[in-house]
Amino acid sequence: MKKHTITIEFSEFDGPDQLSSDELSLLKRAHKACENAYAPYSLFKVGAAVELNNGAIVIGSNQENMAYPSGLCAERVAVFAAISQYPEATIRRIAISTIGETNTNPLPAAPCGSCRQVMLEYELNQEYEIDVILGHPEKTIRIIRGIKNLLPLHFHEPGLRKDR
Ligand code: THU
Repeated sequence: MKKHTITIEFSEFDGPDQLSSDELSLLKRAHKACENAYAPYSLFKVGAAVELNNGAIVIGSNQENMAYPSGLCAERVAVFAAISQYPEATIRRIAISTIGETNTNPLPAAPCGSCRQVMLEYELNQEYEIDVILGHPEKTIRIIRGIKNLLPLHFHEPGLRKDR
């Protein structure tokens, strides 16, 4: 029997002071994007902002549906929109923020497993890791450097690709 241990790492800040101006402005864009959420069922609004290497910033917000599973998380709305508009671009960083009437957690919300898997694949397609900035622009902020720190034991099967 072999035991494996995987450790993950992230940074936590009490406020925005130690963030770079690019990081903070992206987080503000994500927070603002919460206003565009369509979340009549959960009342939990999520905003995401994706910064690409070409300088473009693409926002997304969660879009729910009365057929619940048909809705989509903010992160995937933003990432899919970004890469479908700029298929040659790479992703520098993604900020995620929430405004939840039903939110009881004072700590930043972390992306769901499906969104982690989606972000991971784009990270694997590019040379550098994606920074993920979580939280409220004036409260606790967490920064995870690299999607592998969010999804350490991920599904990765390059043999499934038929385009190479
Ligand atoms: N949601 C996101 O937008 N991102 C996540 O990573 C987790 C959850 C949305 C989905 C749903 O509209 C609402 O938050 C409550 O789950």
